[in-house]
Amino acid sequence: MDIKQLISQMTLEEKASLLSGLDFWHTKGVERLGIPSVMVSDGPHGLRKQDLEADHLGINESIKAVCYPTASATAASFDRDVLRQVGEGVGDGCQHEQVSVILGPAVNIKRSPLCGRNFEYFSEDPYLTAELSTSFIKAVQGKNIGVSVKHFAANSQEHRRMASDSVVDERTLREIYYPAFESAVKNGKAWTVMCSYNRLNGEYASQHRQLLTDLLRGEWGFDGYVVSDWGAVSDRVKGVHAGLDLEMPASGGENDRLVVEAVRNGQLDEADVDLAVERILTINQRYLDNAKPDTVWDKEAQHAQARQLAAECMVLLKNEDNVLPLAKGEEIAVIGKFAVKPRFQGGGSSHINSFKTESLMDALAGMPGITYAQGYDIITEEPDEALIAEACAAAAKAQKAVIVAGLPDSFESEGYDRSHMRMPNCQVELIKRVAEVNPNTIVVLYNGSPVEMPWLSSAKAVVEAYLGGQAVGGATKLVLFGDVNPCGRLPETFPIKLEDNPSYLTYGGEGNTAVYSEGVFVGYRYYDRKKMDVLFPFGYGLSYTTFQYSNLTLSADSIKDTDTLTISVDVTNTGKVAGKEVVQLYVSDKESTVFRPVRELKGFEKIALLPGETKTVTFRLDKRAFAYWNTQISDWHVETGAFAIEICLSSRDVALSAEVTVEGTVQLPTHYTLDTLFMDIAKDPRAMAVIKPFLDAQQPDFGCEAESETAREAITPEMAMAMMQNSPLRSSLSFGNGVVKREDLLKLLDMINNA
Ligand code: BGC
Repeated sequence: MDIKQLISQMTLEEKASLLSGLDFWHTKGVERLGIPSVMVSDGPHGLRKQDLEADHLGINESIKAVCYPTASATAASFDRDVLRQVGEGVGDGCQHEQVSVILGPAVNIKRSPLCGRNFEYFSEDPYLTAELSTSFIKAVQGKNIGVSVKHFAANSQEHRRMASDSVVDERTLREIYYPAFESAVKNGKAWTVMCSYNRLNGEYASQHRQLLTDLLRGEWGFDGYVVSDWGAVSDRVKGVHAGLDLEMPASGGENDRLVVEAVRNGQLDEADVDLAVERILTINQRYLDNAKPDTVWDKEAQHAQARQLAAECMVLLKNEDNVLPLAKGEEIAVIGKFAVKPRFQGGGSSHINSFKTESLMDALAGMPGITYAQGYDIITEEPDEALIAEACAAAAKAQKAVIVAGLPDSFESEGYDRSHMRMPNCQVELIKRVAEVNPNTIVVLYNGSPVEMPWLSSAKAVVEAYLGGQAVGGATKLVLFGDVNPCGRLPETFPIKLEDNPSYLTYGGEGNTAVYSEGVFVGYRYYDRKKMDVLFPFGYGLSYTTFQYSNLTLSADSIKDTDTLTISVDVTNTGKVAGKEVVQLYVSDKESTVFRPVRELKGFEKIALLPGETKTVTFRLDKRAFAYWNTQISDWHVETGAFAIEICLSSRDVALSAEVTVEGTVQLPTHYTLDTLFMDIAKDPRAMAVIKPFLDAQQPDFGCEAESETAREAITPEMAMAMMQNSPLRSSLSFGNGVVKREDLLKLLDMINNA
């Protein structure tokens, strides 16, 4: 179908009509031209296809589907292959159900542990988020189903989500909040992007031309359509011009009418409308040309896969005295409502109608030595003495107690942010009391974001399972009994308390204004710089085996920023069981004129090793791994100097380190004025060569030559030097006793600017 040609046959009304949805989940068609309507659906850790009553909040039932682990969990896999598998599974479901686009992945950065949608998001780290979500995107689109990478951009809170203005500086956007979107477009070739509800630096994302056109298309080369988040349109006409192609859901024809009017009265160029129509139809056609409704959607097979993947995501946070893995036949008291009714996904638009669920108790059915007690209620926070007594009695009789705890639905959800980081009181009390009667108490957590753990010292082991999808119970069993050796790593820092979080002072914003005042210091970038104690650092996770690192080798000691640096390191499984290790590579700029984090994740690989086995892992780093966003040149920039290449067990634990010197090949433009400080001129040898004779002749008098002792005490040589360095060139006029003339200084300026 020649889309341009079709568009030329449409009336303006027809074209405008295509720019909004037919209903909640369908684009419009044009019958007389044979243009069909297609469906889009929520997800993305499964398919939420609503057949009957539609809504965007997960209120009405959708078709039965498979709920894979949520992004909070899959991020902890640190494994691109896990995301590939989820993506392929979801893609098959979409093909089978004739859904053209799955509305995800959601790649917003976890600025605060409080964000209600953190369970849908990946990480506090942009590189990890980008790598994993791009793997998902490639897999879905490999099945000829589009993704809609969302929510673009800087949408890291739910509070006032349709009105709040995220005020974020350019460097922070480029380094923290944009990279996952950038990678989705450049590497993942995302078919569609969903703009967020919020404003970004004063303008709604849905009508932000700089964002949707200049950056997304102009710089990154996006060639699909941009869809609004559901109901995110404020000024539709402005939106069309800004590059928002499709408004969802339907606006009852009202906004289409306004678009027609705007074209008629010359407020909007018809070419903008044509372009949006072309983009929507091109993507729809891409799907239609490759639709395979006969694709097999084997839900049972996907359930088994979801179980295996959930196990690969679990993070072993503590394992004193190797209390885990459990041995089959041990007397085990399993405690907690979540052991029979697991919480495995979050509330809202991503909520999947699982065709079945598997709890830990389901998975343990028939195993000897297992007892169960409910322990707590999920409706109320209040400790229930009868339930606690029953749990303690069961625990006292058992060799080990496994408490399955976490956050109930009401504690975290789309639509609102958490107000604290605590677990329900009834669970905290339960853990303490059970641990008093059974020293071998193990806590498994089902939650979408970090919690405070005042009970940590009383638990011998802790497994963070996040929200692990419908088969999470089976996965929990695999990990507890060592059938899967835990290999997840925390994709976010667990602070000791909420107040430690860098966004704590301003999170949520004042009225509609949310200033991202911590800048690039999000998550570990902040805690590490502050040398602050944390509960568990970013990248942390234990295993039932041990690993050793050796032979860190760099391809060169010094490179230019246009070169690629190749790094290799050997990893050996030094324990007794097979296991997977996440090899993490961080880059640390040893000296910088801009504020930079101590180290930043720039590479990771997950490898499987048999006992005694050694594998070599190789990384390649290019300019971007060393660069920061320079606002002066509006580009990535590398400052010449030494960088440490660190192979780490977490952002806090460096196993091996080597140094490389990187030469930045881009000179920053310098322009000196009378207001330039001497210290800045001093950094430039060419300027110094010009100015030195002048300086030697014109020592400005800051009183350094003071004669009296009192004056010498008041003005130390250090102070005098600092005064000099902190003075602008024009000080030669202020302190030069009239000897220096303004014209001389301007001449000098001319010379150093042209040196
Ligand atoms: C959510 C999106 C979702 C859309 C459609 C919105 O409220 O923010 O993530 O895809 O609804 O359900």
